[in-house]
Amino acid sequence: MKVLGLVASPRRAGNSDIIVQEMMNMLPQEWKKEIIRLSDLRIDSCTACYACLPKDKQCVIGDDLTFLLDHIKAADKVIIAAPVYSLGQHTTIKLINDRMISILSKGDEYFTGKQCVIVISHGVKDWEGYAREATMHFARFFGLNVTGVLVVQAALPGDVLNPEIMGKMDALAQSLVDNTPVDFTDPELVYCPECGSSMLQVSRKGKWRCVMCASEGEWTNDTGEFTLSRMPQAHRRFTLEGITAHGCVLTGIKEQFLQRKAQAVEIRKKYRKGSFWIKPDSSQ
Ligand SMILES: Cc1cc2nc3c(=O)[nH]c(=O)nc-3n(C[C@H](O)[C@H](O)[C@H](O)COP(=O)(O)O)c2cc1C
Repeated sequence: MKVLGLVASPRRAGNSDIIVQEMMNMLPQEWKKEIIRLSDLRIDSCTACYACLPKDKQCVIGDDLTFLLDHIKAADKVIIAAPVYSLGQHTTIKLINDRMISILSKGDEYFTGKQCVIVISHGVKDWEGYAREATMHFARFFGLNVTGVLVVQAALPGDVLNPEIMGKMDALAQSLVDNTPVDFTDPELVYCPECGSSMLQVSRKGKWRCVMCASEGEWTNDTGEFTLSRMPQAHRRFTLEGITAHGCVLTGIKEQFLQRKAQAVEIRKKYRKGSFWIKPDSSQ
């Protein structure tokens, strides 16, 4: 069994580092273990060139994305540890996530459903923001099957090394061995019944919609407790069908662009130079 750890923090020997290393040690000795620090990779921004669409085309940026994808493909299990930064996911996660457009239309190569567990650490009570949801869906863009997400409060490096958090990390590691899910959701909260996100839009008229996976349905509180029912969907966003359908939508948009390219070139001419741009003076 091969397990890959992804550390989404630039802080060396920080909480995310410690979490992944400790969890690796909790796994059977004979498993092959590798850790990648995402900030050590050279990953450039997506430039919206759409050269990676359709299915037979590749991303034209020659950086370390292929290294990362190859290692995810080769792994049987994945552990992601990520800090909360400014209420959201660490920049490396967003940067890589934006580049995932290049694998959307190649879903079947990536959508293997291999097991993934996630630990999010944050420093300040009630400041966890949306990092849990953002990191879960980062994993799902790679076709990983997220079976456990733990959010812990730990500010200083090493704060994760307390018995309660270590116990939960051990349960997560064990779930990788047993190939089972583990539930760390708050029983007091309502989550999306499809993807487990806590980010639901709720209408006054009894409807709900998940911001992350776009599932929707109705909510009731007839029994004094809120219950969600779910509308049937043509396909789910983070399944092979969903990802492939999204890849097709984007490929269609690219085709429209190519058909209207001459018109777009004309429209954009006047904005190419513009008059108000400023840049730092590189001579100083
Ligand atoms: C730039 C920056 C932004 C942060 N933003 C938040 C935040 O919004 N909410 C929070 O609870 N903690 C925040 N933190 C604290 C980290 O999430 C916390 O210390 C975490 O354990 C760091 O993990 P690491 O040691 O793996 O880097 C921030 C830390 C930094 C450096």
